[in-house]
Amino acid sequence: MEIPFHKPYISEEEIAEVVDTLKSGWITMGPKTIRFEEEFAGYLSSKYAIAVNSGTAALHLAVKAINLRPGDEVIIPTTTFTATGEVICYGNAVPVIVDVEKETHNISVAAIEKAITPRTKAMIPVHMAGQPCDMDEIIQLAGAHRLFVIEDAAHAIPAWYKKRRIGAIADITCFSFYSTKPLATGEGGMVTTEKEDWAERVRTLRLHGISKDAWKRYSKGGSWYYEVIEPGFKYNMTDLQASLGIAQLRKVDWLWEKRKEIARRYTDAFASTGCIIPPSVKADRQSAWHLYIIKLHLESLSIDRNGFIEKLRERGIETSVHFIPLHRQPFYKNTYGLTPEGFPNAEWVYERSISLPIFPGMTDQEVNYVIEQVTDLCRKAKR
Ligand SMILES: Cc1ncc(COP(=O)(O)O)c(C=O)c1O
Repeated sequence: MEIPFHKPYISEEEIAEVVDTLKSGWITMGPKTIRFEEEFAGYLSSKYAIAVNSGTAALHLAVKAINLRPGDEVIIPTTTFTATGEVICYGNAVPVIVDVEKETHNISVAAIEKAITPRTKAMIPVHMAGQPCDMDEIIQLAGAHRLFVIEDAAHAIPAWYKKRRIGAIADITCFSFYSTKPLATGEGGMVTTEKEDWAERVRTLRLHGISKDAWKRYSKGGSWYYEVIEPGFKYNMTDLQASLGIAQLRKVDWLWEKRKEIARRYTDAFASTGCIIPPSVKADRQSAWHLYIIKLHLESLSIDRNGFIEKLRERGIETSVHFIPLHRQPFYKNTYGLTPEGFPNAEWVYERSISLPIFPGMTDQEVNYVIEQVTDLCRKAKR
C-alpha cells in the first residue's frame, strides 16, 4: 500500500465553486474574496477578517500592523516553520527564539517570561499541530509588560481554547491555507483581528498601500482614481483561491471530525506499544489535529528517528518532521549565536518526532495499515 503524507480534500463542491468563478469573468480579488472574508469572520466570531495570498503574508502584515520597528524584539518558539521568524527579520527587528514544552511542543510561558527585555515588543505563539498554546498565561504576561500577541494559527482551524475559538482571542491572528493545511486554497492566508484600525491597515497594505477598495478599479461602477498611502505589498488573495476557501469553510468542522477520529484511533493503538509517545492535548482545549506527531521512546528502541522514517517509507508510508527547530537552521544559528544547549526540550522533541499521515480522505484500510506498520516496526526494533 502507498500512503502519501497528505492529500487535500477536494470534492465537487470546490470544483463547482471554482468553475462558477471562472465563468463569472472575475478571477482575481473581488466579490468571492469579500464573501470568503465575511463567512470566515462569521465562523470564528471575529470582527474583521482580511484575506491574503499566504500565511507568511498574513504574519508579515500582522507585524506591520503593530508597527514593528528595527531593533524591536519579538519572542517566538524554536519549534516552528521559518515563516514565523522571517517576517520579523524583514524589517530588521529581532526574533528572540525560545524553548518549547516537551509534551505539547508549544512555546513555554516560563521561557517567554525569561526572554522579555525592555526591547521586547511582541510575541508570536504558534499553535503547534493545531493545539492552542497557554493563551490565558500568555495574554496575562503580555498585558503586564505591554506587549502585543500575534497568534500563528497556521495549523489551528478549527481549534478551541477553553471553549473559545482560536481566531478571536489575541490582538491579531494569522491563518495559512497552504495545500496541506486544514482549510486549503493551494496558497492563501487570513488575518483576523478585533481592531478596526489594524484591519484597515492590513487591508491597505495587502494591495500596494492603495486606498480603499482599489480592487474595484476594473469593475462596473469602480473608479480609475486611487491614492497610495504607503509602500504596500502584492499580497491579495484571488477569487479562485477564495472559491476553494468558501467551499472548504462549509465543511471545515466535518474535516476536523475526520482527522480527530484518525487521531483517536492512532492514539488508542499506539498507547500500549511502549515505544511510542502519542501526542498529548491539555484538557481545557481542542486541537485542530492538523498534524499527528508521535515521539519515539528511543531508550527502548534499537533504531533512531531517521531509521524509523526510512523503514516506514520502505513500507509505502510517507511521513514528515515538524519542525527542524529554528536554532538548528544556519541563518538563525549563525545570526543570533544559538546553540542546542539553549533548547533542551525542543532538542528532545526533534530527535524523536515523526508526523504520520492524517488527512480527511484517508480510508479505514489506510489508517489500519499505518497502525499495523508502526506497531510492527516497534515490535521488531524493540531492544
Ligand atoms: C507554523 C507556520 N507558520 C506559518 C506558515 C506559513 O504559511 P504559508 O505557507 O501559507 O505562507 C506555516 C506553513 O506553511 C506554518 O507551518
